[in-house]
Amino acid sequence: MKNDRGYALITGASQGLGAALTMELARNGFGVLLVARSEEAMRQVAAEAGALNGDRTGILVADLFAPGAVDRVVAWANASGKSITCVVNNAGQGLWGMFDELPLADQLRMMHLNMTVPVELTHHLLPQLKRAQRSYVLNISSMTAYSAMATFAVYSGSKSFLLRWSRSLRIELRGGPVSVTAICPGSIITGFTERAGMMAMDDLARKFGTGPGPVAKTAVKAMLRGKAEVVPGLLNRITAMVQGLMPDGLNERVASGIYLKRLPRKAEGPTS
Ligand SMILES: NC(=O)c1ccc[n+]([C@@H]2O[C@H](COP(=O)([O-])OP(=O)(O)OC[C@H]3O[C@@H](n4cnc5c(N)ncnc54)[C@H](OP(=O)(O)O)[C@@H]3O)[C@@H](O)[C@H]2O)c1
Repeated sequence: MKNDRGYALITGASQGLGAALTMELARNGFGVLLVARSEEAMRQVAAEAGALNGDRTGILVADLFAPGAVDRVVAWANASGKSITCVVNNAGQGLWGMFDELPLADQLRMMHLNMTVPVELTHHLLPQLKRAQRSYVLNISSMTAYSAMATFAVYSGSKSFLLRWSRSLRIELRGGPVSVTAICPGSIITGFTERAGMMAMDDLARKFGTGPGPVAKTAVKAMLRGKAEVVPGLLNRITAMVQGLMPDGLNERVASGIYLKRLPRKAEGPTS
């Protein structure tokens, strides 16, 4: 086991990238506090992480869509008496479709999970992070933050928000013990696409996607090195660089085109 680096609190730690981040943090000397809705899955992840970090684990079953959920998470973290030195804002959800066809309530819930929860959780835990010798905030954004994207309007907007907020917070905290890192992954092979209703994109996601393990490894390494923003994977980094050089209009037409072409459209107008 590596040095004891205190405890990391990871949202969305039951599966996918969050589970892989939990393992990677445990491997790097962090105790891990897992938060998600699926208790059994979290128990399994915690057991595996515990084998790497001397059983320094804890789980909290919480639905972060629910009002007051973050207060419960913070109360639980504080009551645990553990020294929290890392907050990982990973829990997130996608919703694929045209803005006016996706239910408004679902989109508002997604905005809450992807933006409000990270802001609230970090705001509550910052005083504790500031008392540590060295501490971290790791925000999981997305490459969708790099372009306007039809069919992903609110999701890509939420990930752009997370990236800008992350970088701004990083500047505010400069010179202190807290380092803030944003990760902008491309496609990761997890249950995300299915849960986002993106079955029509599944073949592309599998062809160009990466497993969560390598993404988590890059993310934790970047965080420990105090990087501001990292895109995991060489191909994704090149894509992001090219996107940065393209005029906005062209960038968003290309990015949106791939998704628009595959979106199953509802029948339009009356069929008589
Ligand atoms: N997969 C991709 O292609 C991709 C690409 C770029 C960025 N990302 C970002 O990476 C992060 C992780 O995504 P993933 O691919 O690992 O997705 P995932 O497999 O769907 O996992 C999402 C995690 O968030 C948790 N979660 C969802 N809703 C929750 C809620 N209401 N309360 C508490 N926990 C909740 C889930 O746990 P429970 O269901 O047990 O609650 C799960 O652990 C997200 O922020 C996503 O936007 C993903």
